[in-house]
Amino acid sequence: MVNVAILGFGVVGSGVAEVLATNGAHIDRKVDDLLRLKYILDVRDFPDSPFADKVVHDFSVIENDPEVNIVVETIGGAKVALDFTRRALMAGKSVVTSNKELVAEHGCELLRLAQEKGVSYLFEASVGGGIPIIRPLNQCLAANEIEELCGILNGTTNYILTRMIRAGLSFDAALKEAQQNGYAEQDPTADIEGHDACRKICILASLAFGRHVYPRQVPTEGITGVTLSDVAYAESCGRKIKLLGRAMRRPDGKVCAYVAPHLVDQENPLAGVEDVFNAITVKGNAIGDVMFYGRGAGKLPTASAVVADVIDAARHKDEKKRMFWAEGGEDVTVSPAGLESAWYVRAEGTGEQVRAAFPDRTLLARAGAPEGEFALITEPMTRAALDGRLAGLKACSVFRVLD
Ligand code: HSE
Repeated sequence: MVNVAILGFGVVGSGVAEVLATNGAHIDRKVDDLLRLKYILDVRDFPDSPFADKVVHDFSVIENDPEVNIVVETIGGAKVALDFTRRALMAGKSVVTSNKELVAEHGCELLRLAQEKGVSYLFEASVGGGIPIIRPLNQCLAANEIEELCGILNGTTNYILTRMIRAGLSFDAALKEAQQNGYAEQDPTADIEGHDACRKICILASLAFGRHVYPRQVPTEGITGVTLSDVAYAESCGRKIKLLGRAMRRPDGKVCAYVAPHLVDQENPLAGVEDVFNAITVKGNAIGDVMFYGRGAGKLPTASAVVADVIDAARHKDEKKRMFWAEGGEDVTVSPAGLESAWYVRAEGTGEQVRAAFPDRTLLARAGAPEGEFALITEPMTRAALDGRLAGLKACSVFRVLD
């Protein structure tokens, strides 16, 4: 018998209970044992839930029960969740999580603790919702030196951008829909300001490049500055606006990572990733480019990844999975300031100023553009060089163009 406890009965936690119940017979066959949900920890009671009899309010009940083998942490955040994860690992229980904030901030420490205790710490659901990406990166692509990771890593913002582009919805209306669908974080600021995508690129970069990359080392810009005018200009030149997380290993071994909106050519597969879907491209020195695609948020897709980790932990009770990266440091990363790219610029100024700043560039057009507004795509340059050109103009939107 393998006993599981779920911490936090929100969108993902309740999805995990549902998948365990619905697919119970299939899961038992996979595990080759009986897998049972023994406890659900939450501050609330759920009297109308079929799982009402499993609800407990005191973590020590789970911590001190030697029958509990696997703890599923779906609380979120990096406070209570950190304390409970440490205590569960210390008590010799494997921990499975969808908590990207915790892994991005404390993954190195928790992986080490799991290793010391001879148990697993697994977090497939922390990046890309239901998309398999952590295990493929750690195992299937293990032969490669990873050179670059680039992806649409947040379902909520991709949903919002898609609804703005396709239905002409306002930002607020699209966000409301994403919240109703259970995609957004409790505080959606983490989604729209790019912090959620930042945590996810940190996890991928740490795993791919071998040392912990912390969120504070990754410059992050969300989508609150994207307007319907930008969407129209992008469309006029055959591009879509996407929030991308990128991490590249430079020849000197340093990692250059950032999160920002980009203009993506419609021919690029990332441009076709819509709604709540996420996609991650990985460039390896042997395999070349490989892309992972699927539902990046939502109750059951995320639960699918969590339960797969539960099955993995249950099947490998005696041969623990080795997932590991080394401690981080200021020497791990380098700022993207030196990274050249073409830029999309929407600004206000006179025709003369624009011609002087960007000679030979073709101006983009959109219906209803006011007098004095212009937009264009620059030649490749650094952000500092671009800011020099923009002096004297009023820059409204400035986004990189994905090469
Ligand atoms: N809020 C997150 C998203 C949930 O929208 O992608 C999945 O991590």
